[in-house]
Amino acid sequence: ANAVRDRLRIAIQKSGRLGDPSRALLTACGLDWRESRDRLFCYGETLPVDLLLVRDDDIPGLLADGVCDLGIVGRNVLAEQAAERAQAGAPAVAAELRALGFGGCRLDIAVPEDWDWQGPEQLRGCRIASSYPQLLRRWLAGEGIDAEVVMLSGSVEIAPRLGQADAVCDLVSSGATLAANQLKPVLTLLRSEAVLAGPVRPFTDARAALMQTLLRRMDGVMRLRH
Ligand code: PRP
Ligand code: ZN
Ligand code: MG
Repeated sequence: ANAVRDRLRIAIQKSGRLGDPSRALLTACGLDWRESRDRLFCYGETLPVDLLLVRDDDIPGLLADGVCDLGIVGRNVLAEQAAERAQAGAPAVAAELRALGFGGCRLDIAVPEDWDWQGPEQLRGCRIASSYPQLLRRWLAGEGIDAEVVMLSGSVEIAPRLGQADAVCDLVSSGATLAANQLKPVLTLLRSEAVLAGPVRPFTDARAALMQTLLRRMDGVMRLRH
C-alpha cells in the first residue's frame, strides 16, 4: 500500500453522472490520455497522471488500499466509508481535498406522499431502506430514534411500494425518482457534490509534486468557473 510511485493515479466514475464532468475537469487541468473511454485504464500523456475508470462506490476502497492516489467521488460515498471505518475503529484513509461544484445532490429521508409528516419521531419503529446504512444509523442514533435499516445497493425508491420498507434514505437530485415512486423528501442528512478525495497524509515521493501541480491547476480552473 505504501509503494513508491512516480506516477499519479486518479480514479473516476466509468459511467454515470460524475463520469463526464470528472473527465472534463481533468482535461481542463491540461491532462490527456492515450486510451479511449471504453478502456478501464488511461495512460497519462502530457503529465504522468493516469486514470482508472471504476464504479463510484469502489473509489473509497481503492484509495484505502493505495491502488489509487486520488479519486473524484460524491461526498456521500466518501462520508459513508468514513462512517464505516469510524464505526469499526479504523483510521480515516481518505480526505476531501476540494469540493468540485458539480454532481450536487442531497441525502434525504423520504416518506410516502400520503403521510402527514410530523417530524423525525414518526420514524420510530419504521423500516428505512438505504444504500447509506452507516450515515443513516449515525443520524438515527443522534436523534435517539430506534428504527430498522434495510440495506439495498440500488432501486431503493421502490422498496416502500414493494412492502420492503416504510421509508427511504437515498440521494435526491432533481427529485424525479422520488416523485415517480410517490415519495416526498422530508429531511436532509447530507448535502453532497463531487469532491476530490486524496490521502490524509502528503506523499513523500514524486507524487507530491505532481499532486501540487494538479491542485494548483484545478484551483485555477475552479476560479474561472465561478
Ligand atoms: C441516484 C440516486 C437516486 C437518483 C436520484 O441514482 O440513487 O436513485 O439518482 O436522482 P433524481 O432525484 O434526479 O431522480 P443513480 O441514477 O445516480 O444511480 P446509482 O444509485 O446506481 O448510483
Ligand atoms: Zn453509484
Ligand atoms: Mg439510484
